[in-house]
Amino acid sequence: MKDVTFRRHRRLRQSNTIRSMVRETHIHKEDLIYPIFVVEGTNVKKEVPSMPNVFHWSLDLVDQEVEEVVSLGIPAIIVFGVPNSKDDVGSSAYHDHGIVQKAIRQIKENHPDLTVIADTCLCQFTDHGHCGVIEDGKVLNDPTLDLLAKTAVSQVEAGADIIAPSNMMDGFVAAIRHGLDEAGYVDVPIMSYAVKFSSAFYGPFRDAAHSSPKFGDRKTYQMDPANRLEALREARSDMEEGADFLIVKPALSYLDIIREVKDFSGFPIVAYNVSGEYSMVKAASQNGWINEKEIVLEKLLSMKRAGADLILTYHAKDVVKWLLEDK
Ligand code: PBG
Repeated sequence: MKDVTFRRHRRLRQSNTIRSMVRETHIHKEDLIYPIFVVEGTNVKKEVPSMPNVFHWSLDLVDQEVEEVVSLGIPAIIVFGVPNSKDDVGSSAYHDHGIVQKAIRQIKENHPDLTVIADTCLCQFTDHGHCGVIEDGKVLNDPTLDLLAKTAVSQVEAGADIIAPSNMMDGFVAAIRHGLDEAGYVDVPIMSYAVKFSSAFYGPFRDAAHSSPKFGDRKTYQMDPANRLEALREARSDMEEGADFLIVKPALSYLDIIREVKDFSGFPIVAYNVSGEYSMVKAASQNGWINEKEIVLEKLLSMKRAGADLILTYHAKDVVKWLLEDK
């Protein structure tokens, strides 16, 4: 052994202090975005069955939830609406008194400093559950663009600070940017779901948002999980069309894509830690099979290490509580 030379990596792991001095990646509360589901009616606080501790909120009660988010120091929420009435063109997505518009108006009035992001899509609002207009069983691209632009403008009129279009039609960023600019909202950023895979990990969200397609699937507009170069082409289009942030979704099975899109774009990258990723952890931890806190913090760390600047996650409130606990 005397003459063997090797490097002693364990020197930098020998105490908590030294480990923390050489730690390369950190999670901050400022990195987090928390999703909130709003519904019509009064006195509704109803847990989503497949997403423990995630609720549907009616507007008379939602302030409780928003207040908790604000008091924890989470800088931003994203609002998802579940409307009462749906039709074939998703009218309640762009109605001045749609559930999302009413919610944003109320939340911004009570919490002007909270950044409110609007998810801009049609699938929760169409009776067929697809993200665009349908003709002969096909989702039409270009006619959908006008409706998306209309939806975005109405969300900003209600007070949304950032528009997050999630519907994966071609040209959706260009159309929305144009619509916002024409309406005078040149300063409202677009956080585009640039790289959104057609994923089974959205299952619990579709229960929560009542947005499963009534026929077929989303494979003609969301991406094939097998494709990496296509992800870069999608990202490039959105960059060229005027996106300000790029979302990669889901997160956990796509950490390679997060890294590549970050390096390729140099843009702020948002990882969407989606519903199925949340529910798996919840189910296992409720069974006592894993340590929820450690698993979630490790998961989020992996997203940041992969290059994510921000993380959209249903765990956000718990994460801030855990970070405070560890201080
Ligand atoms: C709307 C939308 C979806 C999600 C966010 N926005 C569902 C889908 O594309 O079917 C999924 C979010 C999650 O699973 O947490 N298009």
